[in-house]
Amino acid sequence: MSAERHDMAGAAVGSHDFVVISNEQVARDTYRLELSSHVSWGLMPGQFMNFEVPGDGSHILRIPLSFASCDLRSSHVVIYYVTVGEGTRRLSAMRHGDTSTVVGPCGKGWRLPEKEAGRCLLVSGGIGSAPIAAAAGMLAQAGISYDVIAGFQTAARIPQRLLDEMEPLLADDGRILISTDDGTQGFAGFTTQLMEQLLGEQSYDCVLTCGPEVMMRGVAALCAREGIACQVSMERMMGCGFGACSCCNVPLVAGGYALCCQDGPVFDATEVAW
Ligand SMILES: Cc1cc2nc3c(=O)[nH]c(=O)nc-3n(C[C@H](O)[C@H](O)[C@H](O)COP(=O)(O)OP(=O)(O)OC[C@H]3O[C@@H](n4cnc5c(N)ncnc54)[C@H](O)[C@@H]3O)c2cc1C
Ligand code: FES
Repeated sequence: MSAERHDMAGAAVGSHDFVVISNEQVARDTYRLELSSHVSWGLMPGQFMNFEVPGDGSHILRIPLSFASCDLRSSHVVIYYVTVGEGTRRLSAMRHGDTSTVVGPCGKGWRLPEKEAGRCLLVSGGIGSAPIAAAAGMLAQAGISYDVIAGFQTAARIPQRLLDEMEPLLADDGRILISTDDGTQGFAGFTTQLMEQLLGEQSYDCVLTCGPEVMMRGVAALCAREGIACQVSMERMMGCGFGACSCCNVPLVAGGYALCCQDGPVFDATEVAW
């Protein structure tokens, strides 16, 4: 695995104005937000941005969101998000032409595996499919082949549009495999069960994963067992998003803690004390 972090070419963290191009519901509780800015944000795959959502002055915390795709030249960014609370519900009410600010690019993104590393497997759970789509774009651009396992609770929660946007990025032999916990679409069961099955048919040299922590712990354990390099994109409640409040600790195997917002969100799975 190369040491190259995909934030190297990123711009300095700053606050930027943005304008909403579109904000549409694409699955149950799931939205696709397309936005634009006059400046280039220099976002790299796996990094995130901290959104100010207008409408409630008492809500001072920003909302950290990853991006699924980004046109670096025009600063045209596509976000997929799930409405879980007050902030994301207000975000879902933003309409074409509405404006606000975003702080970013934040954190350290996916590391680009060396091309010689061979084939990669991307494993997402729920809305973790958004930063996984950014990883897919990164691998496609580097000419690295990969398959995707995208797991969801149920078919109604699958953002088909996101999967359709990933499809053209696949190499000829690449596959996107769906799993649902309740068996309403694709493989019936957890992503880790589908991954175990896939590992019996195909060998992989690296795994990139984002989703619920319990899922990533399972993916990391399978990778450790098979000797596969694994990167995980961690999620934590965040106060500041840039290393000032120490509320986003990730426990490390080496002892102590890393800051998810500054040292992550992407970590080597072997660094994390699960
Ligand atoms: C680096 C990073 C990238 C993220 N990328 C995405 C993304 O691409 N798409 C997406 O839908 N979501 C993403 N999230 C999660 C998103 O930030 C939270 O869902 C959002 O902040 C919730 O805000 P809220 O005001 O709607 O909910 P709140 O009212 O603040 O909380 C509602 C519920 O969500 C939980 N929650 C809130 N924030 C987080 C968090 N950061 N991690 C785990 N649970 C949380 C709370 O405990 C509570 O149960 C990301 C989080 C991080 C840290
Ligand atoms: S969110 Fe404040 S230090 Fe990470």
